[in-house]
Amino acid sequence: MKFEDLSGKVIYKRREAVVISIKNKNKRITGSIMVPGDKSISHRAVLLGSIAEGTTEIKGFLMSEDCLSTVKCIQKLGIHVEILGPGRLKVLGKGLFGWQEPREVLEAGNSGTTMRLLLGLLSGQDFHSIITGDASLNNRPMGRVVHPLRMMGASIDGREQGKKAPLAVRGGNLQGIHYRSPVASAQVKSALLLAGLYANGTTIVEEPVKSRDHSERMLRSFGAEIIEEGVKVSIKGLPRLSGQKIIVPGDISSAAFFMVLAAITPKSELIVENLGINPSRTGIIDILKKMGAKISFENKRNEAGEPVADVVIKYGTLHGVTVSGADIPRLIDEIPVLTVAAAHAVGQTVIKDAGELRVKETDRIQGIVSQMAKLGMDILPREDGMVINGGRPLQGARVNSLHDHRIAMALAVAARVAQGETTIENAECVNISFPNFFPLLESL
Ligand code: S3P
Repeated sequence: MKFEDLSGKVIYKRREAVVISIKNKNKRITGSIMVPGDKSISHRAVLLGSIAEGTTEIKGFLMSEDCLSTVKCIQKLGIHVEILGPGRLKVLGKGLFGWQEPREVLEAGNSGTTMRLLLGLLSGQDFHSIITGDASLNNRPMGRVVHPLRMMGASIDGREQGKKAPLAVRGGNLQGIHYRSPVASAQVKSALLLAGLYANGTTIVEEPVKSRDHSERMLRSFGAEIIEEGVKVSIKGLPRLSGQKIIVPGDISSAAFFMVLAAITPKSELIVENLGINPSRTGIIDILKKMGAKISFENKRNEAGEPVADVVIKYGTLHGVTVSGADIPRLIDEIPVLTVAAAHAVGQTVIKDAGELRVKETDRIQGIVSQMAKLGMDILPREDGMVINGGRPLQGARVNSLHDHRIAMALAVAARVAQGETTIENAECVNISFPNFFPLLESL
C-alpha cells in the first residue's frame, strides 16, 4: 500500500490479497517497540480539527486505511488537510458551520468510527450528504445512531428504514435530548455528543457501562463545555472550538498483540514505549495481570489530555479467568488476541457479556472460534462470548482472517507460538489499523 500527497489529497492504492506464512520462532521476546498512533484518537483529532476555528496540527496520526477514510471524507466536505510527513497532519478548520455540501458520496470504507461519528456531525449540517461503506460496514447496525439522531431532529434515510448504510442525511435545527443508550458504545456516545455541538440546549448521553472517553477528553481541550458524571455525559450546544496541537499516543489495541506474545513466551521482557493508558482502554492490561503476567508502567505522563506511559510486560505463568461486565468495553477490541493468552493459561477462561463482538467488522465470536479451532485451540462459542480451555498446544495450519484486521493479527500471534508453520490468508486487512504489523512482528 502506498500513500501519496497530491495537492492535499490522500490517495492509497487498493490492496491485493496477501497470504503470509509464520513459523514458531521459539524465541523469547525482548527489547523496546513503539506501536502506531491510537486509531480512535486519530479519527477524533481530524474530525474536531475540521470543525474548529484555525489550524489543528496532529503528530503520531495513524496512517492506516480506516483513519485515511476519515481524512478523505473531510476533504470531500471542503476542508483542507495537508499531510506534512509520516503521521504529521495539518487540518485547516473552518468552524462549526464551515463544511460544504459534498458533491460525491462519502466513503467510510471498513470504518465504523468514520461512519458513526460523521453521521453525528452531518446531522448538524444544513445540507444533503450520502455516506456508504464496504460490504462489511454496510452490514453493520446503524439504527443505534440513526434513531437518536432522528430524535434530535436530523432527517436520515437509508436501507432497511435507516438501519443500514448507504445512508442519506439532511441535517440542521437539532434539539438537545437526554438519551439512554441500550449499548455501551463509544461510537454511539460520540455521534450524539458531536451532534450535540450543533443542538439547541444540552445533550445528555447515558450508557449501561462506561465506554472509551476519548471524545469527551478531546472535546474539552478544543473548548466544548462537557460534564462527565459516571456513565452520564452532557454537552452544551454551539460552543466555539479552537484548533489544537495534538500528539496521538500509541494504540493499546495494537500493542495488545505484542503484550500477549510477551506474556505467553517464557523469559520474555518487552517494553512498549509511548503507549496510551487511558483507563477506559486498559482492560487488557488488568486482565493479563489478573491471569499472572507481570506488567508495570514507567515514565507516566499526560499528553493532550490523555495518560501515556512506557509499559513493561514480563512473562508469567498464566491461569484462566472470567472476563465480563464493565471490563468488556475496556478490552472489546483485544478479545481476539486474549483468546491466545487463554489458550496458554492453566484452566478455563470464560468471556461473557460480549455480544457486541457479533456486530464488529465480522461476527468475531464465530470468526475467532472457527479460525482458532483450526490451530487446535479448545474454544467454544457462547451467544455472548466464548469459553477457552487452556493447556492444549497449538498446531500450525492454514487459516483465514475473514477480512477482519484484528482476527488476522491474533492469528499471527497464535502462529508464533504454534508448532510448525501457519499460513494466514487475506492478511492484507492488517492495513485497516496497523500497516507495519508484520515487519514489526518479524523484527522481534
Ligand atoms: C471505537 C469504539 C468501539 C471499538 C472501535 C473503535 C471508537 O466500537 O470497538 O474499534 O473509536 O469509538 P463501539 O462503539 O461499537 O463499541
